[in-house]
Amino acid sequence: MAKRLLVMGAGGHGRAVADLAAECGWTVAGFTDRVTGASILGRDEDLTALAAAGAMDAAVVGVGNAALDRRAALFQLLKASGIVVATLVHPRAVLSRSCRLGEGVVVFAGGVLGSSVEVGDNAVVYSGVIAEHDCRIGAHAYLSPGVVLCGGVTIEAGAFLGARATVLPNLTVGKEAEVAAGAVVISDVPAGEMVMGVPARPRGGR
Ligand SMILES: CC(C)(COP(=O)(O)OP(=O)(O)OC[C@H]1O[C@@H](n2cnc3c(N)ncnc32)[C@H](O)[C@@H]1OP(=O)(O)O)[C@@H](O)C(=O)NCCC(=O)NCCS
Repeated sequence: MAKRLLVMGAGGHGRAVADLAAECGWTVAGFTDRVTGASILGRDEDLTALAAAGAMDAAVVGVGNAALDRRAALFQLLKASGIVVATLVHPRAVLSRSCRLGEGVVVFAGGVLGSSVEVGDNAVVYSGVIAEHDCRIGAHAYLSPGVVLCGGVTIEAGAFLGARATVLPNLTVGKEAEVAAGAVVISDVPAGEMVMGVPARPRGGR
């Protein structure tokens, strides 16, 4: 029998994660969220009680870029609950055998992770992302559809990269930095900074 997965967050990203889970062979038991609804089993804080009631076999964070700042806290809540954390890789993603994934990572269809790539806990690798050899993607980082990381790039914890952003080789995008959709990063991005454009410049610094 397929194992039952609970997804924390019932918004657009949460539903995308639920679809991914189904492709990976899970049965989606339901969601936790702040709002109520047909398939919402409770609030995030109810996780431990839901597990005690046998509602699921594992759980995963499904909150996306609408609430990036909550993703790490939800993961900590999940870890503290003792529930198994699922890692989801779409059957049509392509991962090098030397690539390493942390707990709770989600890799959507068409993701390509090259040789020796390391992906930290709870990171999101959306459809069509390419991370070439030796990239390090930190915990809770969020790579939107079509992001391209050239070889040796470091994405620090909690950083956000918008759709089709590109990062040139061996650069670092700092902790909780944001890279706008379509930007081409040609130099290191300091922690917490937002950059945009081609070449990418700090917001307001054009
Ligand atoms: C960078 C981003 C977060 C900024 O959002 P925001 O704070 O709402 O910014 P605004 O839309 O108010 O735009 C602010 C300025 O930045 C510019 N700008 C916004 N996004 C830009 C982009 N991707 N590239 C270049 N310039 C951009 C705007 O034109 C505007 O310029 P102005 O001040 O000269 O008028 C957003 O535009 C973005 O790129 N988000 C990524 C979305 C995405 O990829 N989601 C994937 C989810 S799966």
